[in-house]
Amino acid sequence: MSSQSSSQNLQASGRRPRVAVVFGGRSSEHAISVVTAGAVLRAIDRTAYDVLPIGITADGRWALTADDPERMAITDRDLPSVEQLAESDTGSVLLPFEPDNREVVYTEPGSVPKALGEVDVVFPVLHGPYGEDGTIQGLLELAGVPYVGSGVLASAVGMDKEYMKRIFTSFGLPVGPYTVIRPREWERDEAAARKKIVDFAGDHGWPVFVKPARAGSSFGITKVDDPAGLDEAIAEARRHDPKIIVESLLHGREIECGVLEFEDGPRASLPAEIPPPAAHDFYDFEAKYIDSAEGIVPAPLTEEQTREVRELAVRAFEAASCEGLVRADFFLLDSGEFVINEINTMPGFTPISMYPRMWEASGVDYAELVDRLIGAALRRSSGLR
Ligand SMILES: Nc1ncnc2c1ncn2[C@@H]1O[C@H](COP(=O)(O)OP(=O)(O)O)[C@@H](O)[C@H]1O
Ligand SMILES: [Mg+2]
Repeated sequence: MSSQSSSQNLQASGRRPRVAVVFGGRSSEHAISVVTAGAVLRAIDRTAYDVLPIGITADGRWALTADDPERMAITDRDLPSVEQLAESDTGSVLLPFEPDNREVVYTEPGSVPKALGEVDVVFPVLHGPYGEDGTIQGLLELAGVPYVGSGVLASAVGMDKEYMKRIFTSFGLPVGPYTVIRPREWERDEAAARKKIVDFAGDHGWPVFVKPARAGSSFGITKVDDPAGLDEAIAEARRHDPKIIVESLLHGREIECGVLEFEDGPRASLPAEIPPPAAHDFYDFEAKYIDSAEGIVPAPLTEEQTREVRELAVRAFEAASCEGLVRADFFLLDSGEFVINEINTMPGFTPISMYPRMWEASGVDYAELVDRLIGAALRRSSGLR
């Protein structure tokens, strides 16, 4: 079904589009996703949309959850979870895989399945593996339901720090030096893999950043000052992903830029600067979420630098064939050159997160942002585009 016919059907039926807000999930960013979903549920225009909150538990069950944003925040440093919000410990929400059937069903062992009505669009407020990496996007393609944000390929590219760099390089975007240790490389010959990293650091200098290739929120990342610290850093990264990427430390300022899809295509927000957090070695999980590190919006850049980084952000969005939204993260090197660090296809999205703050500064408030993202998803059809 094309997006046009689905929106025509909606108009003909006179009902509001039904948005399933899907959150939580199996990645280590579960709690952040719950927090974000709470903000989305709070901001979503209930006169324009019907809302169905669906939480995915840490072990992957799709649970019907309370539509209760108040219980979805970080309180006294306690992190919320879908398990706390689920209406039952056993019930599952099922999305049919026939593209012409959008009727969501709720099943509870021992009870008759209950129809929950049709879903017109899914807002996957999910970060990290099984959420932001193309897997749920593939499932939604099979189900024939439009969804907010990037499709399968762009999501997978945005999750994988190796392929992201390869794509950027092939589109002429500047990236920093890196080397990759594939799972089989490590399993076959740990000593050779270790030597590859030491040689890389010999060429580009210590310290290096050792990262899981596919993670997020700084999980599993260690800054390593010398060869003695390598084994522990590799083990830590491999706890998150058997593929690791090693980068040389880039000296410069951290600059981010939001890209949002408008009716006429992607546009870049004003950029922000993330100052180095005083109490943390780098911009790690604690610094990012618990202490709500304060980014400076707009970034104090020259007009020329601002123009350049916004243009690079849109080019990064296009290079990976992104849709809906992306936050593009850069380093402004001491040499004055911008280097792209990564894109996030489902960036932190609470009202205090950088992406919404950058758009707020650019004249698009949080509620409009949510509305534009759902609108962009409804305009698209499922399938190839
Ligand atoms: N090569 C690098 N040079 C300097 N700082 C880095 C480098 N890579 C990462 N960092 C720091 O670590 C943070 C997290 O790394 P990043 O690659 O963005 O991982 P994540 O996907 O988990 O956000 C960055 O925001 C930055 O502060
Ligand atoms: Mg990052």
